[in-house]
Amino acid sequence: MSSQSSSDPSDFHGFPRPVDLSGEFRKYIGKQVSYATHGIHKYPAKFIPQIPRFCIESFSKAEDVVLDPFMGSGTTLLESYILGRESYGIDIHPLARMIAKVKTTPIDPTHLSRVAENLLDHIRSDDYDNSSLIPEIPNRDHWFRPEVLGNLATIKKYVWRIRSGPTQDFFKICFSSIIRKMSNSDADSLIPEVTSFRKKLDEQGKTSFDVMSKFENTVGNKLLDAEELWKISHDVEKEFRNPPTINIIGRDARDIEMDDSSVDLAVTSPPYASAVHYVSVHKLEMFWLDLLDDMARLDGQVVGTSRAYVREYRPWEPKTSVPELKRVLTELVENDKKSAYIVYKYFDDMRRNLCEINRVLGRNGIYCMVVGENTFRKVRVPTYLILARIASQCGYILKGTYVYDVINRHLDIPRWNDSRIEKDYILVLQRKRKPSMDCL
Ligand SMILES: C[S@@+](CC[C@H](N)C(=O)[O-])C[C@H]1O[C@@H](n2cnc3c(N)ncnc32)[C@H](O)[C@@H]1O
Repeated sequence: MSSQSSSDPSDFHGFPRPVDLSGEFRKYIGKQVSYATHGIHKYPAKFIPQIPRFCIESFSKAEDVVLDPFMGSGTTLLESYILGRESYGIDIHPLARMIAKVKTTPIDPTHLSRVAENLLDHIRSDDYDNSSLIPEIPNRDHWFRPEVLGNLATIKKYVWRIRSGPTQDFFKICFSSIIRKMSNSDADSLIPEVTSFRKKLDEQGKTSFDVMSKFENTVGNKLLDAEELWKISHDVEKEFRNPPTINIIGRDARDIEMDDSSVDLAVTSPPYASAVHYVSVHKLEMFWLDLLDDMARLDGQVVGTSRAYVREYRPWEPKTSVPELKRVLTELVENDKKSAYIVYKYFDDMRRNLCEINRVLGRNGIYCMVVGENTFRKVRVPTYLILARIASQCGYILKGTYVYDVINRHLDIPRWNDSRIEKDYILVLQRKRKPSMDCL
């Protein structure tokens, strides 16, 4: 691993200079970053498994407890399991929780294949009108063709007939994986969007809406992933005396249902202020899976949400003791108080998360936070630096920092909404004392 550290603290905003790991992470591509069930479902801003693996191997030992408070699709949890650590995950997003569950639950592939065969037989031979199973989706006909709606309803009918539990969840994730592809949305848009480019492809007959064969292929591929996870689970059982457990425990990273001092290591890649609209990205899938009852409410609970109400930001004054945040807020507030408030709220929510992690970490416990910088409304936001400053006030010391170039597609925060990321940092925060601040 390359290492260019310097002990001169003035090199990096008063913190130890970062160690460059670009050479280390750049070499992983394709199957190396999606082995076993890591690629079971798309998820925005996933980190490659080598990043949590690096943190887990560097800062914990077998049988330790690892927590990811913004677990997304569960990358940290699967890596913890493979490395023999007990893991806990939290995410506000219902689809993230389902993906993480399926990603980390080994199921006997013989059983899965048998269920798959039966399921596909039923789907193929069904010629009923299943339109009553089509969910209510705002603007439904804009998103889906009538024959696609009918075919998706038929698949849903039989997946929902499987007894609820891990097997059914596995097939729900297979089903979810084809929804965006079978919709009218552009495949490359992060948020579902029917673009003129996509319409042109449709007119030229270059798109396929063959729902049934897409589902069959998807099930076939995901069965292979499940088989790999099953083999891994055997290796884990052989290697570790006490096979590690994986626990998805809650929804909110600002309010964690775990005892004080019960965690050895936390590893996460948090959201950014207004960078990815996590609820919209997967709204079509969530409608079909019956996971979205109140979109606005869920969006309001997301850390980094761009939702803010006049009653909140009108009386608010941009005050903070963190100099880099002060600069950002001053620049933003000149044009638009709402944007400044959105950024402030994001950092205040992250402060709450840092305090909660401080509480659940044991003495000298480590919180590895993978975070970069972004721009919002053309203002550069050095998110990693502001979080490092807030962490110092929340009772941590910055024990070290690693940096690497963001070159992998899975790591890239999309460049819409003025946001872009070029480098990511791993902040290694060590818990030293109780938080000394209760506001920014
Ligand atoms: C950058 S993603 C994490 C991706 C993850 N590392 C992976 O590999 O899939 C950030 C996650 O934070 C979640 N999140 C946002 N607000 C949250 C909150 N209040 N509590 C817990 N999770 C939240 C989002 O739903 C999203 O899944």
